[in-house]
Amino acid sequence: MKVIPYGRQHIGQDDIDAVVKTLTADFLTQGPKVKEFEDKFAAYVGAKYAIAVSNATAGLHLAVLALDLKPGERVITTPITFAASANCVRYAGGEVWFADIDPDSYLLSIESTRKLIESKPQGFFKGIIPVDLAGLPVDLEAFRVLANEHDLWIIEDACHAPGGYFTDSKGSKHMCGHGNYADIGIFSFHPVKHIACGEGGMITTNSKKLHKKLASLRTHGITKENMSEDHGGWYYEMQELGYNYRLTDIQSALGITQLAKNDAGVIRRNEIAEAYKKAFEGKIKHQSLPEGSYNAHHLFVIEVEDRKGLYDYLRAQNIFSQIHYIPVHKLPYYKEIGYGSADLSNSENYYSQCISLPMYPSLSDVEQAFVIEKVLTYING
Ligand SMILES: Cc1ncc(COP(=O)(O)O)c(C=O)c1O
Repeated sequence: MKVIPYGRQHIGQDDIDAVVKTLTADFLTQGPKVKEFEDKFAAYVGAKYAIAVSNATAGLHLAVLALDLKPGERVITTPITFAASANCVRYAGGEVWFADIDPDSYLLSIESTRKLIESKPQGFFKGIIPVDLAGLPVDLEAFRVLANEHDLWIIEDACHAPGGYFTDSKGSKHMCGHGNYADIGIFSFHPVKHIACGEGGMITTNSKKLHKKLASLRTHGITKENMSEDHGGWYYEMQELGYNYRLTDIQSALGITQLAKNDAGVIRRNEIAEAYKKAFEGKIKHQSLPEGSYNAHHLFVIEVEDRKGLYDYLRAQNIFSQIHYIPVHKLPYYKEIGYGSADLSNSENYYSQCISLPMYPSLSDVEQAFVIEKVLTYING
């Protein structure tokens, strides 16, 4: 059997044609494909605005800056995420505080977050960055209630979750990154994610003010609006310190064709998830699915006691599973700045047992059956 990775991109002739067409067009960057991708993405998730960026890490960085995070200010996130969800706070000189995860959904626990917030004086924290881990949407309605009580902003790290949704208490469905409860949503277009641009990211928001700020920060803080002087048609002003975090037209062209296939991809991912669940029923714990939620299934995570044994065994069979994630507070950088001893037992228990099995739309039934057979063979000893 050839190598079966845990995730991979799915590139078709339509994607190739779109990229090639853009290569001979007038703009390779800062052209019409970027705006088209932004408009289509905003419409897809139901947000008012979308801002394309060079990757999700850049998007997270701009998000905390646009929300005016200052050095020394504190933000809560989950330890079970990719480091970028926390690093963005550090880029702005802020302090990261970790609350624990729920042991069944593996998402940032609202109870643990509330406990942490309420253990400190009002105003101690500025924001929360919950993550739609593996594609499972966070209950943002509950987080909004908590955030409003304590005057906090919310950045939804939806990097794993384009196409996922949760249902709120009024019965309305909200796509990940919709912007109705969170201030800002962030998506990644790294090739193992749903929408592959090579590198790429998208910021979504319903706020006109945040959109304007994010667009300015993405391009050096340069603008031609509200200028203090006007020297002629060429004149622009840099009114604040920004970055070059732009996505190219070539990447956007790919993003547009990839986005058009996302629903089909998520349906296939859910079929794969159902087949795993059926095969592991009563034998292996997997991420739970709260009622009313639709998991976009970037990953399919199971928990097993002898995780290292299973990982090595699968690897020997050319099945390249992966671990998502080493808790961020246990990474040497965070340990050195004093986080290593935080009491986050659910996260640490989860880490000792979690393993992500292959999950991507082009995984064939035969390949998945091979994965299932090998997992069960190992588990049954
Ligand atoms: C949850 C999460 N947040 C942020 C990122 C950063 O994304 P990017 O690689 O596009 O910067 C990733 C990427 O792996 C991620 O999984």
